[in-house]
Amino acid sequence: MRVQVAIIGAGPAGLMLGRLLELAGIDAVIIERRSADYVLGRIRAGVLEQGTVDLMDRALAGTRMHAEGLVHHGIELGFDGDRHRIDFSALVGSQVMVYGQTEVTRDLMALRQAPTIYEAEDVELHDFDGKPWVTYRKDGVTHRIDCAVIAGCDGFHGVSRHSVPEQSLTTFERVYPFGWLGVLTDRPPVAHELIYAHHERGFALCSQRSLTRSRYYIQVPADEQVGAWSDARFWDELRARLAPETAEAMQIGPSIEKSVAPLRSFVAEPLRFGQLFLAGDAAHIVPPTGAKGLNLAMSDVATLADALIEHFTEGSPAALDGYSSHVLGRIWKAERFSWWMTSLLHTFPETGPFGRRIQRAEFDYLTGSLAAQQSLAENYVGLPL
Ligand code: APR
Ligand code: PHB
Repeated sequence: MRVQVAIIGAGPAGLMLGRLLELAGIDAVIIERRSADYVLGRIRAGVLEQGTVDLMDRALAGTRMHAEGLVHHGIELGFDGDRHRIDFSALVGSQVMVYGQTEVTRDLMALRQAPTIYEAEDVELHDFDGKPWVTYRKDGVTHRIDCAVIAGCDGFHGVSRHSVPEQSLTTFERVYPFGWLGVLTDRPPVAHELIYAHHERGFALCSQRSLTRSRYYIQVPADEQVGAWSDARFWDELRARLAPETAEAMQIGPSIEKSVAPLRSFVAEPLRFGQLFLAGDAAHIVPPTGAKGLNLAMSDVATLADALIEHFTEGSPAALDGYSSHVLGRIWKAERFSWWMTSLLHTFPETGPFGRRIQRAEFDYLTGSLAAQQSLAENYVGLPL
């Protein structure tokens, strides 16, 4: 097989890139390690920046999102029981859309006309410094795909970044000393908007997937085992970290999904190696506190798609040459915001009493300063592409 672009990974980044290229008449195949059902079975975040909403519309994939998504005009921040609403509309004239990443993936999958090769084993990237080609094994047969460009959209553990010679890559990483224990339940959300709460017992987040399905998280030690948490223990700990009136209002129910996720900040530089381009979690990871993971992947893909379209339709290499530096500027701003939200809202025992006072002062400064709230709001709703 010969294509113009071989996309590695059928997560949100790979599927959105494939869709944008397909609409531009560019021949791209997606090669995915897992089955379609496995990809759809992943429970991930659920907040779309306006830029991501616009990209879904550009991809002609936004119908269900607009019908079922929930537009949110703010979030609530809590700190040891004190509560403060960040009003996005009043502060920066924008909003976000609550719509699960799984649904974004489902919508993009349903629209895809070009080939997606699922359950591709032993994917390997070859000669991306010259004339790239990809091999994979399926049903015991090894296949080869020749291409002009490879887009590595295969996530943090994917083969693309790991195919780059170590000396050609610089990585930056911070692993946090805690993780998030998340629960999905078919009960109405405790509040109309998301609640991010700092408590001396640890961080808690009240999120949602719809008016009848809620998503909750609590900070746990990095090595926590999900088996140590019964539903009852989870609900008690979550409510202990929230303002009393919020805890009182919560409708608890059986967990339909329960898992622990580690938190890390990670960036690889640069994001281009010959004709291999990295996008999404293959290039960077953010702690989920700022709801940036999916949105950052989508903004990478918007830039990469435009650069590839310019390259293949106008023969101009300029945008592709500028891809890495362009997206890294935005990536680091999202890394900064995600780190800042994580630092404000989680407990870090090692920082001691002084560190806790600084966190309290940060919250008090934020809630007392319109400028500080505007800064939070403009980052949360998404910086301009
Ligand atoms: N070969 C082919 N496909 C692979 C390989 C491989 N060697 N390794 C991983 N993949 C696939 C994974 O199975 C997954 O479907 O690549 C896809 C990568 O998808 P994501 O990890 O979702 O990454 P991305 O598309 O960049 O989306 C980022 O997803 O995980 C969340 O928090 C993250 O919200 C962020 C978003
Ligand atoms: C979620 O709904 O899963 C979610 C929402 C906001 C975040 C992180 C996760 O910051």
